[in-house]
Amino acid sequence: MSILFQREQGLLTLLTDHTAYQMQIGPEGYLLHTYYGRACAEDFRYLHLERDCGFSPNPYALSASRGFSLDTMPQEYSGSNGADFRLPCILSESDDGVLGVDLRYVRHEIRKGAFPLKGLPAAFAGEDGEAETLSVLLRDAATGLETELLYGVFPHRDVITRAARIRNGGEKTVRLRKAASACLDLPFGTWDCIDFHGRHAMERLPERVPVSNGIRTIASERGYSSHQHNPFVILCDHETNEDQGECCGLMLCYSGNHRTELELDQTGSLRIVSGIGERFFCWTLEPGASFDTPQLLLSFTSDGLGALSRQFHRFIRGNLCRSPWTGRKRPVLLNSWEAAYLTFDEALLLRLAKSAKQLGVELLVLDDGWFGDRDEDNRALGDWTPNLRKLPDGLGGLIRKIKDEGLKFGLWIEPEMVSENSDLYRAHPDWALRVPGRQPAIGRNQMVLDLSRPEIADWLYETVAGLLRENPIDYIKWDMNRAMTDLYSASLPAEHQGELAHRYILGLYSVLARLTEEFPEVLFEGCAGGGGRFDAGMLAFHPQVWCSDNTDPIARLRIQEGTSYGYPASAVGAHVSASPNHQTGRSTPFGTRAAVAMAGTFGYELDPAKLSEEERREVRRQISFFHRVEDLVREGDHYRLGAMEKERFTAWQFVSEDREKSLFTLVLTEPEGNPRPLHVRLKGLDPEKRYRLAETEYAGCLYRGDEKLPEVLSGAALMYGGLTLPRLYGDYPSVQILLKTE
Ligand code: GLA
Repeated sequence: MSILFQREQGLLTLLTDHTAYQMQIGPEGYLLHTYYGRACAEDFRYLHLERDCGFSPNPYALSASRGFSLDTMPQEYSGSNGADFRLPCILSESDDGVLGVDLRYVRHEIRKGAFPLKGLPAAFAGEDGEAETLSVLLRDAATGLETELLYGVFPHRDVITRAARIRNGGEKTVRLRKAASACLDLPFGTWDCIDFHGRHAMERLPERVPVSNGIRTIASERGYSSHQHNPFVILCDHETNEDQGECCGLMLCYSGNHRTELELDQTGSLRIVSGIGERFFCWTLEPGASFDTPQLLLSFTSDGLGALSRQFHRFIRGNLCRSPWTGRKRPVLLNSWEAAYLTFDEALLLRLAKSAKQLGVELLVLDDGWFGDRDEDNRALGDWTPNLRKLPDGLGGLIRKIKDEGLKFGLWIEPEMVSENSDLYRAHPDWALRVPGRQPAIGRNQMVLDLSRPEIADWLYETVAGLLRENPIDYIKWDMNRAMTDLYSASLPAEHQGELAHRYILGLYSVLARLTEEFPEVLFEGCAGGGGRFDAGMLAFHPQVWCSDNTDPIARLRIQEGTSYGYPASAVGAHVSASPNHQTGRSTPFGTRAAVAMAGTFGYELDPAKLSEEERREVRRQISFFHRVEDLVREGDHYRLGAMEKERFTAWQFVSEDREKSLFTLVLTEPEGNPRPLHVRLKGLDPEKRYRLAETEYAGCLYRGDEKLPEVLSGAALMYGGLTLPRLYGDYPSVQILLKTE
């Protein structure tokens, strides 16, 4: 039993192995939040003393005591236009002019299993089958608007999922201008907020700042979850570090506009409200209609940021990603993009395939440029038939020849977009989003197809399904290369235009659900100009996402480390590319590029013909090494190491669940003259076991080259004493060590 109801006290307590979450059905039916933190089955009402706070009004029925105000009490889901002046969860207006809601408890229900959502991805009970759902129904008497608060409890994951189902139970039409997934009031403590901001080719860079008075917003109103602000934030104590301290993560399972707001109020209480971005949101609810918000994943630990990350990793792998590929070894791939860009023909692709095969690559991915008259990137998106000048035997012919070489075949598509210069646009100019009477903004020569329209979503599904039915395609890279602007749908009635951005995402999810169900064996990799849509919503369908268009391994250290706070390495698309790097111009050792790409799905994105004989030998060695460690990367526990040495190196470790095997990697980013010893403590090992440093790979060079690492050490020695590494020398050298118990 992970959900307890204490009738007399009006308490509902959600329990996971190490955390507890509690709410109280309070006076007058207000649903109050009493606790979220370490596991403890106390009655936490004693924490919240009533007190008269000047200018914070009291509910009418409780006004005599003046001690109870919605403005000061922690709540589960805040209303608006009442006495709580802090961030609302709902902003609404009813046809009779009534603004806001005053939500009161009606009833609750405890159910077995996780809760699904209408048209939206949601976490499921994993292999252990353990999940329970609490549903609490609240109602606003004035408008009849009902809100069912949903809580999924995953006891062994230390994760609680939340969402709200809003139903118009009244007689007037209601417009929702905001409908948050959840609110979390943290009434005590001193908090830092870590968010993951960035830009194209520099995504998910962590920034940690103290939460200060007032409101802070982390949001995307770009139509997709975005390179700029990932829908994931962590709140932690000022003292929390990688290995200890309290922290709580909030991850929105959604790929569209999102907004997480933090408000530190007059009482020192922190409120976090998270959900769909509201700038372009207005949802009309007719009487009887209902609206589901996206799901928010909540996780708490008192064991530091590393533990919090691992909780999210396990949850995403075990309870969110539906693809059968999630737990499977992924093929090592060669992608044609940085090898040839748009300039290729069949002969070049076959040459790539032949040499890839010789090197041990398992899958050839044909990226952009294979369709329509796509010789430049200003045309042909939407015309998903092969370019016969480049591929004279069509896709079928090419795939046959590639498979004859002994490789699997993967294909790039960007089906949500259309070029102005395309047959699709000429036939259906109204399919692109654009405001009548205004020229639409063009992004990377593309326009956005209106996926809110079922006939366009159907076309998209049929187009991709057709490609997959007619061709033995093993892998799809599903790209999306521009932000959404000019929100106007040629088919929505005026009063529903404000629903477009969300309806687009619902259309996208419906297509992805149909495709992944019909083609479970196809490995899908998400992509949006690299990692612009790296979010839990997409991961529910695609087990991996191209992490960034930046393939420079040193830039990738920051990008991948930032990504690792919330997302597992099994989801991180990472490739070895040419040096100097095409995005940064930086030169790095070949082995370092591989060591960094091995913290992800691993593959290559270069022309093997440009490699030296020695580099080719090196590729073979890298691939065979990766085969020996890929299970660790995909399923192991991820540890970030050496936080104090950030400016000198980046290091990390994957450890198998049984702690028998571990892969340690360190990349030196800042060589020093006369350097201090390079020392790092390992983590996550069994102190009692003895580990053989079974394989060590250096990339770049060693200063003298004759320093030896010990052969066998106890887990205790490696974690408490650490490892002193030989002096690495030169530009961006690295070391990988595979440890195995004796
Ligand atoms: C995006 C992707 C790249 C590549 C190009 C092709 O930028 O992130 O990997 O597929 O599109 O146009």
